[in-house]
Amino acid sequence: MNKNTGAGLPRKGLLACLAIAAGGAMLGAAAGGTHGAMAVDAQQQRLDQLITASTAPPQGVDPVAWEKIYIPPGNELSAERIALGRKLYFDARLSKDGTVSCSTCHDVSRGFTDHRNVSEGIGDHLGRRSAPTTMNAALLQNMFWDGRAATLEDQAKLPILNPIEMGHPDAASAMAGIAADPAYPGLFQKAYGREPNYEDLGRAIASFERTLIFLDAPFDRYVAGDAKAISPSAQRGFALFNGKARCMSCHMLNTSNPLGTDNLFHNIGVSARTQNFEGLARQALAALKDGGDATALDKLALQTDMSELGRFIVTKNRGDIGAFKTEQLRNVGITAPYMHDGSLHTLWDVVDHYNKGGEANPYLDGAIEPLNLSEDEINDLVAFLFSLTDQRFAAQNQAALREQQAQAAKKRPFRDNALAHREVLPFEKRVVGPAGLK
Ligand code: HEC
Ligand code: HEC
Repeated sequence: MNKNTGAGLPRKGLLACLAIAAGGAMLGAAAGGTHGAMAVDAQQQRLDQLITASTAPPQGVDPVAWEKIYIPPGNELSAERIALGRKLYFDARLSKDGTVSCSTCHDVSRGFTDHRNVSEGIGDHLGRRSAPTTMNAALLQNMFWDGRAATLEDQAKLPILNPIEMGHPDAASAMAGIAADPAYPGLFQKAYGREPNYEDLGRAIASFERTLIFLDAPFDRYVAGDAKAISPSAQRGFALFNGKARCMSCHMLNTSNPLGTDNLFHNIGVSARTQNFEGLARQALAALKDGGDATALDKLALQTDMSELGRFIVTKNRGDIGAFKTEQLRNVGITAPYMHDGSLHTLWDVVDHYNKGGEANPYLDGAIEPLNLSEDEINDLVAFLFSLTDQRFAAQNQAALREQQAQAAKKRPFRDNALAHREVLPFEKRVVGPAGLK
């Protein structure tokens, strides 16, 4: 974990500068919401250009699976539910001080995330994890980096009550907050036939999120037979992805797994850089001695050093120490920075990380080892990853590519050729230091 990002430190000014530097052209002139997000009205307009509020199964998803697997019984999609959820998603009344909505951290103009290493909630409190995109979250089999929420419905109710995200002390307080808008009772009635209540609020937000499906990338046109849809470099990258670089062993990308994730948890040596895993694990077991309900887990994950234990705090299995969910690869061109702690800022950093076999640690997944990729191969893999961004974001994706290219030309902090090309082995490096045994 970045050691200068402790929870509760107000660092808004500095972070705003960093966000602008990182977001660059993508942020555009229309920022004006809180925490560097685009103003809500402008986000709504942009959303109108991106999606229709259709209840039909989305393009790229098997219609039977959509109905039977992805939509839970009791929350069938309807136009009224989507409309209510959309209003809630953009409503800052869901935060205690009225400054933060879902769209602050999952901003339409920033790839439905916030382009920060870790998110900033009410009172400028910093959490411990990077916000994943809400695009395609509807197709994930579990929510959060550690999978601690099972469904979109369950997920949506947590940030509202998390003290450093939206900060309502309880569901009643959140419902009282939105009661200030007289439109809600009628909208809840139309959507669910009941008075406003917290469970239906979660359901409605989930319904809206089910309209955020973005699976129409150049890559999809390529696999559908348009050989020119992606560059020759990206085509070589796809072959590497499935072959020498072995990415598909966790990020399988096919018609049953359109997102490029196995929905499982692996320690790929991201958090290992600075952690005393054993000490943290003992601390977590003590903290969770009496069980640990959903809100208790949520606080552990977002407000303490134990965050870096990842899946372990959910399962308490030693094998899950430092394991995080395989993140989807869809639209990855526009959702930097990467990994649960936002520690990798470009896709070159990501491939450098894998090329050297991650950060050695006792819990490292067996599938992570040095890849011996050449510079050309790294560039091909990156070109392939940029081909996974939906066409609707083509311009934003191009801008991000140029920015990352420029950044990577200046520095590649995770490149380690000695490890990548097996001139030294990770265990030698641990024992004898960075120089290894020459
Ligand atoms: C303060 C910033 C912040 C706010 C506000 C916020 N989120 Fe998040 N969101 C995050 C972070 C950080 C995570 C990852 C946390 C973790 O994995 O432990 C996350 C995770 C998620 C996920 C899981 C995605 C995945 O890939 O697993 C979804 C869905 C989501 N948020 C939706 C919402 C909704 C809906 C709201 C409003 C009710 C909301 N968020 C409010 C920062 C925020
Ligand atoms: C052993 C399983 C595994 C393998 C193999 C693997 N990944 Fe990952 N990938 C993960 C996990 C787990 C995460 C999230 C880790 C974290 O945040 O700590 C991740 C995260 C990512 C991310 C970040 C996405 C985001 O939005 O933050 C990218 C990009 C990525 N992987 C690309 C690749 C590429 C390219 C390869 C092949 C060179 C690869 N992965 C190989 C499991 C794997």
